Amino acid sequence: MKTSELRRRYLDFFRARGHTVLPSVSLIPDNDPTTLFTSSGMQPLVPYLLGQVHPEGRRLVNSQKSFRAQDIEEVGDNRHTTFFEMLGNWSLGDYFKREQLPWVFEFLTKEAGLDPKRLYVSVFEGQGEIPKDSESIALWKGIFASAGIEAREGERIFAYPAEKNWWSRSGVPSNMPAGEPGGPDSEIFFEFPDVPHDPAFGEKCHINCDCGRFVEICNSVFMQYKKEADGGLTELSQKNVDFGGGLERLVAATLNEPDVFTIDIFAPIISRLEAASGKRYGEDPASTRSMRIICDHGRAATMLMVDGALPSNKAQGYVVRRLIRRAIRFGRLLSLQTGFMTETARSVLDAYDDTYPVPPERREAILAAMSQEESKFNAMLGKGLKEIEKIPSLTGALAFKLFETYGFPWEMTEEIARERGQQVDRAEFEAEFKKHQELSRTAGKGMFKGGLADHGEAVVKLHTATHLLHQALRSVLGAHVQQKGSNITGERLRFDFSHPQKVSPEEIRRVEEIVNEQILRDLPVSFQITSYDDAIKGGALAFFGERYPEKVKVYEIGDFSKEICGGPHAEKTSLLGKFSVTREEASSAGVRRIYATLS
Ligand code: SER
Repeated sequence: MKTSELRRRYLDFFRARGHTVLPSVSLIPDNDPTTLFTSSGMQPLVPYLLGQVHPEGRRLVNSQKSFRAQDIEEVGDNRHTTFFEMLGNWSLGDYFKREQLPWVFEFLTKEAGLDPKRLYVSVFEGQGEIPKDSESIALWKGIFASAGIEAREGERIFAYPAEKNWWSRSGVPSNMPAGEPGGPDSEIFFEFPDVPHDPAFGEKCHINCDCGRFVEICNSVFMQYKKEADGGLTELSQKNVDFGGGLERLVAATLNEPDVFTIDIFAPIISRLEAASGKRYGEDPASTRSMRIICDHGRAATMLMVDGALPSNKAQGYVVRRLIRRAIRFGRLLSLQTGFMTETARSVLDAYDDTYPVPPERREAILAAMSQEESKFNAMLGKGLKEIEKIPSLTGALAFKLFETYGFPWEMTEEIARERGQQVDRAEFEAEFKKHQELSRTAGKGMFKGGLADHGEAVVKLHTATHLLHQALRSVLGAHVQQKGSNITGERLRFDFSHPQKVSPEEIRRVEEIVNEQILRDLPVSFQITSYDDAIKGGALAFFGERYPEKVKVYEIGDFSKEICGGPHAEKTSLLGKFSVTREEASSAGVRRIYATLS
């Protein structure tokens, strides 16, 4: 089936069951400072899942453009993509499991035409006070029975712990921040019986095995819980359904194809790549992988550009640049010439013209930006190649240098070297790579964790002022404010935090007032060491982008502020002097930056 046909059938199916069709929102969220990209259909609906009234009613459906940056390195196999469309239907406190599960089954077997014998399901096995989802098990047994299939637990229905069958934006219950909705879910897997189990993934195959025989095609989340500040879960005022289905995987399933890159959307890109490279898709694993990476990254970068993220060094633009550059590097492995990414973008825009049309001027601007980025990076790669020619013999360490400076992937360097009859030491390359990873991790920590230039008196005082500022921002702007970065020199502090709009002069004045009040109160600064979980339970603020060790230091400034932090700090607030904000500006999408001084 074609992608547009399956999308239409899904929307029609739920429209006929009383759902309103919502448009796809932008891939760049405009009202959610906590994330760079829209990564699921439920993301813009969180307030409504928590109980606010949605203007379009309690039954909603859509196909949402989604992007998951964390999947970049996984792209190259037959089913992972960074960009995908998520089919979604929602009940906002209206219908629940009894309607949802039979509807999904009906859609999959009648509308998408999937063989029910090839469907397998998972449910939540229970944890703590949340019981096993026996209701879904009973429902599934009945649903499969109606298709003439006896579905036994352990054979067709499988219960799994929270790691697999609990869904929230932050994963398992213990990772959910206060206020976050979540719940048990029921996933559906499609079996490709012709794909043999790969023992590299474990002795025996099972529905959650990653060998590719079973592919997860959709998920019904029963979103009925909310995380509380005390760490517990309570029932939401309404029981919701949040369904997500991977459109591309579903289309591939209708074609009996385990490979999502064989669907219609990618066909024109692959034909172009085949013509330009002289290789056939599927001919050998390395070229196939390169073609998949170009298809995925080219599509994702183009769709992100359509939604306003042009290649740059910051935030979303940086991810777009990374996608384009990675695709170009793999293009080189196929001996593709400059211009193939621009052609890929053109194919993507054409393929989505009926669903996500782009006005002609905007289309030209996107193609021009892609072409410019391509030329720039190719020039850089060209320079790298010249450097290589000057090197008499390529060592693993040099191969790494080429990777670091010019973005040469290992495969490319190896091939250059092979042409010259040389062999490069892969182990040495990997050792250098590891060293570099560790160094950048440490550097990252230095930049964000303390973010202090030194431990001199001025820096230490500004550090304490940063904690006061963080808490004051939360009091004035709201509890959505979270630290996104901190950098302190002897002259000033710089603090990045999530907030969707400019902080008004009036709000800044209020923040200054609060910080100065706390300074005048001469609050003592103290710390204690506790487990991370206890610190969070006790209400300590944390930098959520950071990985903390099990034991952490919690700094308290009187009764005003409590934050996980490595220190050091001033002994008491009266030592700080007068606090003033000197500048407020945007840092990246949804993140503001404040500069402040003490005098
Ligand atoms: N929110 C769930 C998911 O992303 C279902 O839509 O998988």
